[in-house]
Amino acid sequence: MINQKNVALGKVRSSIRELYEYGKARKAEIGEENVFDFSLGNPSVPAPEEVNAAIKDLVDSCNPVTLHGYTSAPGDYDVRNVIALDLNKRFNVNLNANCIYLTCGAAASLTITLNALVNRGDEVVALVPYFPEYKVFAENAGAKFVTAACEKGTFQIDLQKLESALSPATKAVIINSPNNPSGVVYSRKSMILLGQLLEKYSKRYKNRIYLISDEPYRELVYEKHDTSPYITDFYAYSVVCYSYSKSLSLPGERIGYIAVNNNMPDYEELYAGICGAGRALGFVCAPNLFQQVIKRVCNKTADINIYKQNRDLLYNALVEYGYEVVKPQGAFYMFVKSLEPDAKSFAERAKKYELLFVPGDDFGCKSYVRIAYCVAPQTINNALPQFKALAESYK
Ligand SMILES: Cc1ncc(COP(=O)(O)O)c(C=O)c1O
Repeated sequence: MINQKNVALGKVRSSIRELYEYGKARKAEIGEENVFDFSLGNPSVPAPEEVNAAIKDLVDSCNPVTLHGYTSAPGDYDVRNVIALDLNKRFNVNLNANCIYLTCGAAASLTITLNALVNRGDEVVALVPYFPEYKVFAENAGAKFVTAACEKGTFQIDLQKLESALSPATKAVIINSPNNPSGVVYSRKSMILLGQLLEKYSKRYKNRIYLISDEPYRELVYEKHDTSPYITDFYAYSVVCYSYSKSLSLPGERIGYIAVNNNMPDYEELYAGICGAGRALGFVCAPNLFQQVIKRVCNKTADINIYKQNRDLLYNALVEYGYEVVKPQGAFYMFVKSLEPDAKSFAERAKKYELLFVPGDDFGCKSYVRIAYCVAPQTINNALPQFKALAESYK
């Protein structure tokens, strides 16, 4: 018999994908402009022009056999070196090429890292609300998936809840800031306390707890003072899982990296584990054309002003219509309290107004919905009367 766990995973689409497919069919039926699809976190601003310029130049000037050939399994040394130097310039780190492992995006970074760390029976803790694939990746690596709620209303880290979720079996805690789905950036103070908590419990349980920081939205922050702190400052046993999917608007190109903190004692051992897990999973040698593109543009970011405008437009309007909204500081998601206890039925009712957004159930938060506002500003403008009508339908 084939693996029934994977059959089940393959048959049941995530509710985000399900809704996206519904939106596609609905657009074909009634016209694209009449459906307000806020389901998917697909960037709506183009990649910076330097990306296309780099692709053209690479294709025109490089030896095609080399350009389209294999690189070393963890990625081209020079590319990894450029990324490490860029991180050293921006953050308080002293990384080198041998701390960096190039991947096909954050999904691969997370899967590889979890497989490198987890022994069967270990526990992996995620903070609620969380990106739904964490559960899939953690369980596939052999871990028990454990959750800890964030603070009600603010969705900042709730250290007491996290403390109660830790156990002698905890191998790793995953954080994601700016957060999908809440848009919240975890405060510097909470990161410091988080580092202290993990240190305390690693000692108490005589079992090292690692911190995995999933950072595809690091550069998508709308006010400078909200910038997400770099986790290696607060905790030595940390690994950053990064992706260029959102910062450079390249989700289809599948490129990102893992950065292992070399302030961690025996970091080479963990890096070797990452190389081994990458090998075992077949995640070696990320696409070379995009490795070379990243070498040239890793210090660039897509123009995030449109996301900020969208956030302000949508947030102000929803608050005016009476919705309870967590003001997003980053990423391009808005977490909105459902107008009825069951967010699924709220999202169903929204479909009657051609509004497509995802119930919070998959993110571990049943009374909220996620609105992905990475859409054309016109879509938001046109959707506002529908949001108003939806709110009025509950009065
Ligand atoms: C929080 C989070 N982590 C990981 C990923 C996966 O990103 P990638 O496209 O780089 O695999 C996403 C994608 O939306 C995400 O939102």
